[in-house]
Amino acid sequence: MVDVVISGTGLYVPPHRITNEELVKTFNEYVDQYNAHHKADIDAGVVPAKQHSSAEFIEKASGIKARHMVDVEGVMDLDRMMSKMPEGGHGDQEHACFQAHMAIEAAKEALAQAELQAEDIDQIICSAAALQRYFPAIGIEVQHHLGTSGSALDMVMGCSSATYGLIAGVNAIKAGTADRILMVNPEIFSTMVNFRDRDSHFIFGDIATAVVLERADLARGKDQWKVTGTKASTQFSSNIRSHYGPMTRLDDDSMLREDMFFMQEGRKVFKELLPLVTEFISSQLEGDNLKVGDLSRMWLHQANINMNMYAAKKLLGREPEPNEAPTVLDEYGNTAGAGSVVAFHKHRGDLKAGDKGIICSFGAGYSIGSLMVEKL
Ligand SMILES: CC(C)(COP(=O)(O)OP(=O)(O)OC[C@H]1O[C@@H](n2cnc3c(N)ncnc32)[C@H](O)[C@@H]1OP(=O)(O)O)[C@@H](O)C(=O)NCCC(=O)NCCS
Repeated sequence: MVDVVISGTGLYVPPHRITNEELVKTFNEYVDQYNAHHKADIDAGVVPAKQHSSAEFIEKASGIKARHMVDVEGVMDLDRMMSKMPEGGHGDQEHACFQAHMAIEAAKEALAQAELQAEDIDQIICSAAALQRYFPAIGIEVQHHLGTSGSALDMVMGCSSATYGLIAGVNAIKAGTADRILMVNPEIFSTMVNFRDRDSHFIFGDIATAVVLERADLARGKDQWKVTGTKASTQFSSNIRSHYGPMTRLDDDSMLREDMFFMQEGRKVFKELLPLVTEFISSQLEGDNLKVGDLSRMWLHQANINMNMYAAKKLLGREPEPNEAPTVLDEYGNTAGAGSVVAFHKHRGDLKAGDKGIICSFGAGYSIGSLMVEKL
């Protein structure tokens, strides 16, 4: 069986950034406008008044201080409160669409780190929680503009999009169907957010990650991580859901209905998913004859600071040190499938040969996915 290494990672961060304070100001203006408009019904007890959001609550409940998004102007516009199509929108033969552009920029950094040219790649796996269209595949557009060889495909797997894309890539290399795979993960999940919903208007940000996977004997980059194991597990749940999809146009008056956006039962997710995650990681460690103390780092999905700290504490049996399970939530928010790879990209430079870690995602589905890695 061939060994597979991660030999390069890259990020693309959209230029538009919005802080909790800015987001809350717009939300509260919307609430005041709504309550004034519905005053008679609210006074009569027919319609409940909407409540203000608060930047302090957001930081305490989620660890998020700001996020980057494909567009901020449309979100801040009280008559819209939804992203506008970014410049370069749908793309064509000469120009990449916005989501492909995000992936391409992240891929350039990953390829440079792996010391590879685009044509050295024989498959692209483009995996994201939300795709801006179904066909032609975004991955094929990335292939076209980047100039990679072979084939490309798209995958959608909620907050496990990047890890499931990586696991599929590792399996393809081990099976001998590819030598070098580029996994791109352009997340545009702010486009799924209901910015009029107090419970969820603050959660998501956009970002793209890219990871080069190679047959170990071919890799020449200076920072290589052997993938020593992978694991995936799913269990159906409706607690994180959106009904938006190809049926939306068949569904009367659907476009602004609440169920077309991201919806969640946050408390239930917290309670149900975390035991699955800690059990999943414990059993993976056991299967690999490892103890949690053998891991130098846990690059966990970045949903929420309290969730991450709970999982790390449960696994370690004590409070985690900040560098044992690093978070990137403060600057980027929950970036759907990208979180654990963003953490891996930004927080691995201090580790040395022989150090081990786990890249683990969890989220909608429910889905959990992980790669056990060792620095070479
Ligand atoms: C979403 C989440 C951050 C909310 O945190 P929480 O502490 O559970 O908050 P709750 O929804 O129970 O609300 C707590 C209180 O804050 C209030 N609140 C909710 N949103 C608020 C906001 N934006 N501003 C101010 N107060 C708010 C609620 O009204 C509630 O008030 P009450 O106690 O008087 O009823 C949390 O449930 C969570 O992290 N869930 C995990 C799921 C997740 O992150 N999923 C993402 C996809 S993987």
